[in-house]
Amino acid sequence: DIDTIDMIEEIKRLKREKNAIILAHNYQVPEVQDVADLVGDSFALSQAAARTDSDVIVFCGVHFMAESAKILSPDKTVLLPARDAGCPLADFVWPEALEAKKKEYPNAAVVCYVNSPASVKAISDICCTSSNAVKIVESLDSDEVLFVPDKNLGTYVANKVKGKRIIPWEGYCITHHRISLDDVIKAREMHPDAKILVHPEVSPEIWQYADFIGSTAQIIDYASKSDSKEFIIGTEMGILHKLKKDNPEKTFYLLSKGLVCPNMKKTRLEDVLDSLREMRYEITVPEDIRVRALNALEKMLNVR
Ligand code: 13P
Repeated sequence: DIDTIDMIEEIKRLKREKNAIILAHNYQVPEVQDVADLVGDSFALSQAAARTDSDVIVFCGVHFMAESAKILSPDKTVLLPARDAGCPLADFVWPEALEAKKKEYPNAAVVCYVNSPASVKAISDICCTSSNAVKIVESLDSDEVLFVPDKNLGTYVANKVKGKRIIPWEGYCITHHRISLDDVIKAREMHPDAKILVHPEVSPEIWQYADFIGSTAQIIDYASKSDSKEFIIGTEMGILHKLKKDNPEKTFYLLSKGLVCPNMKKTRLEDVLDSLREMRYEITVPEDIRVRALNALEKMLNVR
């Protein structure tokens, strides 16, 4: 409608005026994805945040993502349009709890999934995302690894990497973790020819049914290259927008109706507009934490 068109025009105008870039995660609502300069998974977005020459980064995602952008680009203004868009998975780990665990495993390297607070990245050896977790853990000399905070991704890595002991933290994503065996069995029955593509944050019992396990960008890539015509998608529903847009001739079914992340749905087009207008909500990271967290993030970005 006309309001939406006006809003999009105003967002584009403000973006030029403020020399801003809009980054959006694959889970964002369609209209926010469509106004973004880049839509991607956590890894691609952190690469973009590290490289941009814009003065302002509007991060349409959740808090830890905007925080990582600020850590990587401290001289930029980083804005999170929806102030209370958090990540319950990231909240499973905090510095005191991790310090205590490190005492239990003094020889373990700490690998920190980016879905975590900056203060935890600051006391980790290296970060990873869902797209590179296996590669990151394989790159380490240490044969013992504390993996925080996602136990499902940690277990996935433990199954893939030989010769290392992985100790996963007890955290999980409430949205992915609630997918049940029943959901996947029903979906399989209803769409027997469909390929099943899931995110590694789903619980391990689901993996046996999956044709492919990967990050959101890897799922999109797999679906685009595959000869199959039908897919059952086991990650947050926001991904369907890009899947359908890139592959109009293919059909996508959501593995479960429950695959909606309330935090990713908090950013509306209005919030993006207000964010640019009012320059809000600015994300900051204390400098002592930032420099240490940067070390863990940069190490990740440098693993080839
Ligand atoms: P990606 O690595 O695909 O961005 O996944 C991030 C995430 O938060 C999954 O829930």
